[in-house]
Amino acid sequence: MAQLELIIKNARNLPALPQVTSKLLNVFNDAKAQAKDVGKIIESDQSLATQLLKQVNSPFYGFPGRISNLHHAVVIMGFNAVKNLAVGFSMAKMSRKGGSAALSTEQFWEHSLGVGVGARSIGREIGYSCPEELLAAGLVHDVGKIILADNFPEEYEQVIREAEEREEEVCQAEQRILGASHDEVGEWFTRENRFPPVLTTCIKYHHMPSRYTSGEFTKAVKAIYVANQLCKLQGVGWKCGGICTGELESVCREVGLSDEAKEKVSENLKAEVDEAKEFFGITTAA
Ligand SMILES: [Fe+2]
Ligand SMILES: [Fe+2]
Repeated sequence: MAQLELIIKNARNLPALPQVTSKLLNVFNDAKAQAKDVGKIIESDQSLATQLLKQVNSPFYGFPGRISNLHHAVVIMGFNAVKNLAVGFSMAKMSRKGGSAALSTEQFWEHSLGVGVGARSIGREIGYSCPEELLAAGLVHDVGKIILADNFPEEYEQVIREAEEREEEVCQAEQRILGASHDEVGEWFTRENRFPPVLTTCIKYHHMPSRYTSGEFTKAVKAIYVANQLCKLQGVGWKCGGICTGELESVCREVGLSDEAKEKVSENLKAEVDEAKEFFGITTAA
């Protein structure tokens, strides 16, 4: 843990949270804030408002094309869902400081989006109460990679090179070379910025779901783990380092994802990511 503290103390190139994310987090952490305060912030950001309404108008909720305002969206999806989704979506506008070439922004978001839509599909298959929450968690799950790459560009190039050569997971190479991994750093960053607990928890445990034992977010943590592995197996987004699928079967079982459902999620992954990329305006070289 000492190395993590050192990294954090010396981190000068922290990503800047988009203004709208900061405003949202302030309101979410203010006990006196009301849903209408959140609505006002979201409405002040046209693209965020459009993205949220598009989600709630998806066929999944059974009201396609009929929800036209945010108040109604909160009623349909629930306040927590809108809250988490707003944070996840707004993070896609996050700007990096230092912008190390070791980690391409586009490929990073493509992977994050892949994990988000994959986890959302898993959520739908297993009857998760709010699949959109998982999309949000997928969007932010690897945020620690940006912090490590932008603060230690040379070491991070080595991390990526060695993870590829040794076919190990990136977090193992990060631990070996930097002494801390992106899940730890991401958890610290989002806790500091008072992100909703479901997001912080998914970030912390997305590589080690079995270490999360306290309950409330178990399904979310496992769905993100499975989606992350499926994206790598399917070659969706940036596949860096080796694939560690040791726990995949057992985690799928624990979360209630059958083999057929897993196949279905995997098969649809590429098409869903392409659709979502367009939606978020993310472009990557083919
Ligand atoms: Fe990760
Ligand atoms: Fe990941």
